[in-house]
Amino acid sequence: MSKKRIFSGIQPSGALTIGNYLGALKNWVQLVDEYECIFSVVDLHAITVRQDPEELKQRCMALIAQYIACGIDPDKCTIFIQSHVPAHAELAWILNCYTYMGELERMTQFKDKSSRHADNINAGLFTYPVLMAADILLYQTDLVPVGHDQKQHLEICRDIAERFNRIYGPVFKMPEGYIGKMGARVMDLQNPEKKMSKSEPQGSIALLEDPASAVKKIKRAQTDSLGYVKYEEGRLAMNNLISIYGAVTGKTADEIETEFTGKGYGDFKKALAEAVQAELSPIQAKYKELMASPHYLQEVYRKGARYAASIAEETKRKVYEKVGYILG
Ligand code: TRP
Repeated sequence: MSKKRIFSGIQPSGALTIGNYLGALKNWVQLVDEYECIFSVVDLHAITVRQDPEELKQRCMALIAQYIACGIDPDKCTIFIQSHVPAHAELAWILNCYTYMGELERMTQFKDKSSRHADNINAGLFTYPVLMAADILLYQTDLVPVGHDQKQHLEICRDIAERFNRIYGPVFKMPEGYIGKMGARVMDLQNPEKKMSKSEPQGSIALLEDPASAVKKIKRAQTDSLGYVKYEEGRLAMNNLISIYGAVTGKTADEIETEFTGKGYGDFKKALAEAVQAELSPIQAKYKELMASPHYLQEVYRKGARYAASIAEETKRKVYEKVGYILG
């Protein structure tokens, strides 16, 4: 029996945080053995927000290097850059014609991003979920590991696929969200009600952050006044630190509670800082090494694009046929 296929992507729009790592990348490493995985650097999505061209190039390379440095083995899966496979933009156009304004207007990420970038509410930002649907549907994807904030986009992808299939017969496989024992949802260290985001430098730790700075941020992370280390309902700040520690060390909340019984936050933060450093330093070393081998990275993404295009083109032809285009 063939393996189920997984597709996911990350935008090259900023530095990855330990939230991206613990919530996504670290888990992808394991998926690669069990599933056929296709991981994309979604540069088409990235320009829905203004990007500096040189920086964008650099970030795409850096993101590929970070995928591999985190342990995602390019010999066991496909890593490619979205813009290298034209079928993404092509299918997105078609799917735009099968998506309603009203559906897109309901997207909370659109509402949120357009309020944060009020000077640039462009049409791409609005149709972003359609491009994401094209990404997923082109590969006849079985499973999409998405974080909390992308669930609504996966839902609209399913709605679009269902609509298209209803009109033309089965063309797209219906993708499901991947719910495995997925990683931690890492929150902001200063404001644990918000998801950790690179746009909040004090509350976030970059995957490539200088260790001294990471330690400082952990020492300054918000706690509470209870004074003991225990995962308990309502303790947002402590629960976040405990789940980071758990995600990094593989320890359960109970084990962590036992480990720090009778100890204070100082000891806990010291252990947390050491654990985070121990996790990040080999990744950072590997990243440096990879960035010094651009030819290797190029080989990875070219091979990835060739394979991705072979699948994507097949789906695109099916769609063209159904819609009534004369195949060239
Ligand atoms: N929108 C996703 C995010 O910002 C990135 C993304 C683009 C994606 N295309 C995708 C994720 C397809 C999963 C599948 O996180």
